[in-house]
Amino acid sequence: MKFFIDTANIEQIKTAAAWGVLDGVTTNPSLVAKEQGDYVQLLKEIVQIVDGSISAEVVAEDIDGMIEEAKFLASLHENIVIKVPFTPDGLKVTKILSDEGIGVNETLIFSPLQALMAAKAGAKFVSPFVGRLDDISHQGMELVGEIVTIFDNYAFETEVLVASVRHPLHVLEAALMGADVATIPFAVLEKMFKHPLTDIGIKRFLDDWKKAGKKM
Ligand code: E4P
Repeated sequence: MKFFIDTANIEQIKTAAAWGVLDGVTTNPSLVAKEQGDYVQLLKEIVQIVDGSISAEVVAEDIDGMIEEAKFLASLHENIVIKVPFTPDGLKVTKILSDEGIGVNETLIFSPLQALMAAKAGAKFVSPFVGRLDDISHQGMELVGEIVTIFDNYAFETEVLVASVRHPLHVLEAALMGADVATIPFAVLEKMFKHPLTDIGIKRFLDDWKKAGKKM
């Protein structure tokens, strides 16, 4: 499973890239709003740090506006994929962009049929938002399982990108279900390092080494 980081924060992206686990980055208007500087500048920096898929989201709500923004964002770098919201107009835009060879990440997916429609329109990725479903007492990961099954049934090439990840268990379940990608907030990536037995093990090795007076 590919790991994307779900942030527009340059320091977080650099740190995770140095861990060697990063296959891409997802941004959205809310994440960009938290950072200094303009979106284009941030994207230009991000593509230099991570050699992988970088999702940039349109904010226009009409078809022409979305296409114009999408083409501009895609022109910034070949790795940029355009996040388009799942609406009737968004789906038209997905079809147009995909036919022109511009990768689309269909965002704000909350049902398996939305994902199926996005795949049929040619989306490169669909982004089911698992955390936001959990927030309203629906099982977000069940949606991922259903989408994986549907895409497998019909051999769609569209990748299932698990988004709105809130904790390491979302990542584990995504991997067990065979999702293609999880986009993970930095704080969740940090939690994925943690295991008390790792810390205890390191301490015990070092204590034994020192007690025996060994030298490297
Ligand atoms: C990423 O593609 C999504 O925009 C993001 O994961 C949404 O996460 P949130 O539900 O925590 O805002």
